[in-house]
Amino acid sequence: MPIYSVVGTQWGDEGKGKLIDVLADSADYVVRYQGGNNAGHTVVVGDEKFVLHLLPSGVLHPRAKCLIATGVVVDIPVLLREIATLQAKGVATDHIFISDRCHLIMPYHIKLDELKEQSHQKIGTTKRGIGPAYVDKYDRCGIRMADLFNDNILYQKIKENLSHKNLILQHIYQAAPFDADLLFEEYRQYADLLRERVIDTRLEMQNALHNEKMILCEGAQALMLDIDYGTYPYVTSSSPTVGAISVGTGIAPQHIKRSYGVMKAYATRVGEGVFVTEQNNDTGAYLRNKGNEYGATTGRARRIGWLDLPVVRYACQINGLSDVVMTKIDVLSGLDEIQVAVAYRCGGDHPTRNIPADLSYPNADISAVYETFEGWNEDLSAIKNYHDLPPACRRYIEFIEDYLQTPLTMISVGPERNQNIFKNGSIK
Ligand code: GDP
Ligand code: IMO
Ligand code: MG
Repeated sequence: MPIYSVVGTQWGDEGKGKLIDVLADSADYVVRYQGGNNAGHTVVVGDEKFVLHLLPSGVLHPRAKCLIATGVVVDIPVLLREIATLQAKGVATDHIFISDRCHLIMPYHIKLDELKEQSHQKIGTTKRGIGPAYVDKYDRCGIRMADLFNDNILYQKIKENLSHKNLILQHIYQAAPFDADLLFEEYRQYADLLRERVIDTRLEMQNALHNEKMILCEGAQALMLDIDYGTYPYVTSSSPTVGAISVGTGIAPQHIKRSYGVMKAYATRVGEGVFVTEQNNDTGAYLRNKGNEYGATTGRARRIGWLDLPVVRYACQINGLSDVVMTKIDVLSGLDEIQVAVAYRCGGDHPTRNIPADLSYPNADISAVYETFEGWNEDLSAIKNYHDLPPACRRYIEFIEDYLQTPLTMISVGPERNQNIFKNGSIK
């Protein structure tokens, strides 16, 4: 049985959590493989809304084992709180496991993230310590989940890290230092709380593949926040691509058979960085309000723009997407006109469909070339069949599908599990 994957094609918050929840009812495993609790994935079931930050969005399906694989950076107190919140709502949590090789987000990472954001080069991060934790991982001084179970190593690592971090905290930021003994006491207790859940997730997945199980991999963030291919430096510190699944789980890439890219019918972005199709105007305000575009993790108002097709095409190429799933088309109802970016104009050059490396925010001389579509007024939220969509809406969808040269398999018309239209055959 192959691996299926879900990734974001824009700047995050496309509705990946919803799609994972829809697909997870036939999955044996749902796996997060990069990022950390910077993610906010919303799943709506009836009157209940769940926002998952670290746990895979398949967690509401007790049949599927939920794995936090090696590529994820884990903030243990956040993980324990998220598990406790689900338990309080009566959701089973025995099926949640974490890789013994995951790196930990430590309290000093969170502090350093906050302080750097206040002092220079503001990225608009989620202040969850993601960047500093990945820095330590690649600097080869990070603390891993397996270290929790060896008091000597855990103590040594905390001590060594703090001998360096405390200098930065005190002398660069004039902030209070951390106490190694206190941190050690706190973290050694987590060993007992997590012992049953910390496993070799690679081996678990390898055996699952051998036993023909279905594995669903859940990307966090999205391509334009990718450390290499996104709008650097206004990106996150991991790679939210299909390619990263192999690295983040330890499973060979040929097992990945189908990859769904989630695309919002317009665009949003949280934090700083270039946003060529941004609509900082009444249209943007209308869409923010109607689409409830406020961050699921930080509550920040999301910036709003028209759909940027060169960006989504870039995501189709880099991820090798087999399917695109469009979300939130219902939010576009009520506009007279809808615009879609089809190319970029960079300075005096000819328009291009490629994404240039240097977007030099905020002074870039880059603008979008738009195609304009007639809007529609109908409420789409109860529509189940593609041909019941208003003709203007179908023209919009078909133009996008043609541009991307990738089948649009599902169109989501509301946050609920069953508010979907299927097109081009089966989603699974
Ligand atoms: P994720 O980070 O990609 O999982 O997306 P978020 O959960 O951060 O943001 C997507 C928001 O849109 C959530 O509040 C979802 O409940 C909601 N949503 C998802 N699909 C649709 C849809 O088709 N229509 C509407 N109106 N809302 C949707
Ligand atoms: P999901 O999975 C939207 C953004 C932050 C900031 C940049 C770097 O819900 O789509 P970080 O804290 O990662 O160092 O911040 O990345 N960002 C997201 N934006 N959705 C997300 O996740 C995001 N995760 C990080 O706003 O601009
Ligand atoms: Mg989100």
